[in-house]
Amino acid sequence: MSITLADLQKKKANREKVCMVTAYDYTMAKLCSEAGADMLLVGDSLGMVMLGYKDTVSVTMQDMIHHSRAVARGADRPFVLTDMPFMSVRTGRRDALVNAGRLMAEGRANGVKIEGGAELAPVIGEMVRAGIPVMGHLGLTPQSVNALGGYRVQARALEAAKKLLEDAVALDEAGAFGIVLECLPDRLATLVSKNVRGITIGIGAGAGCDGQVLVLQDLLGMYSDLSPKFVRQFAQAGTCIREGVASYCEAVRGSTFPDAAHSFAMDDAVYDALAAKWG
Ligand code: KIV
Repeated sequence: MSITLADLQKKKANREKVCMVTAYDYTMAKLCSEAGADMLLVGDSLGMVMLGYKDTVSVTMQDMIHHSRAVARGADRPFVLTDMPFMSVRTGRRDALVNAGRLMAEGRANGVKIEGGAELAPVIGEMVRAGIPVMGHLGLTPQSVNALGGYRVQARALEAAKKLLEDAVALDEAGAFGIVLECLPDRLATLVSKNVRGITIGIGAGAGCDGQVLVLQDLLGMYSDLSPKFVRQFAQAGTCIREGVASYCEAVRGSTFPDAAHSFAMDDAVYDALAAKWG
């Protein structure tokens, strides 16, 4: 049974935490599904983690569709949420609807996530009325890294914190089923969580949110280009992968791989007939 919006809402009502993790390909989506994740986020962080860009600004609709389709194939149970990339929403309502529709029809997403505040409430309302589940994203919005001047904690001062609460309420009232809260003081995120009907998913926003998300490669210890304070490494998969590949290289160089157990044998008679001319 796949997770639905109603299931997510029920979790909030029952104070059960929602577990979200990013995924960008079929194999990882399958593993995260089997591990019990409720939601898989095909984040535009794939630009950094999978494509090696320094930020998310260059990620295209085509990139998002490509990775979202792969994740959807591996996600038996989790709700698949796909990011709307930089400038796919803000060039007009029609563009926003067409792009969100493509992420669902071509990328097989169950819903889309959009970075931005109250200014997006009208377009979010239209998307929701068109049958597109939308999640907002407030606080540190990485697509605006050039305007924000870096990756740092947001809304620490009173005016900024008030604005963030107003943005959250506007997105909630427009019909967003939830909001990602990134890099915010923990008590502000808790206040947001209490004042919206939808679910809040925190990343660097403390324990008072209705759920949490981390970038998969961060939590598995596989990505070291950035190491935000809010990341905890739950495994050292990077070390494990390096060791595995180094052992493989050693075995190939030492001619201990492939051995008979990993090769296909040929009948002696067939071989002898060939060897008489070619051997
Ligand atoms: O792109 C992403 O992975 C995200 C998370 C950091 C929330 O938006």
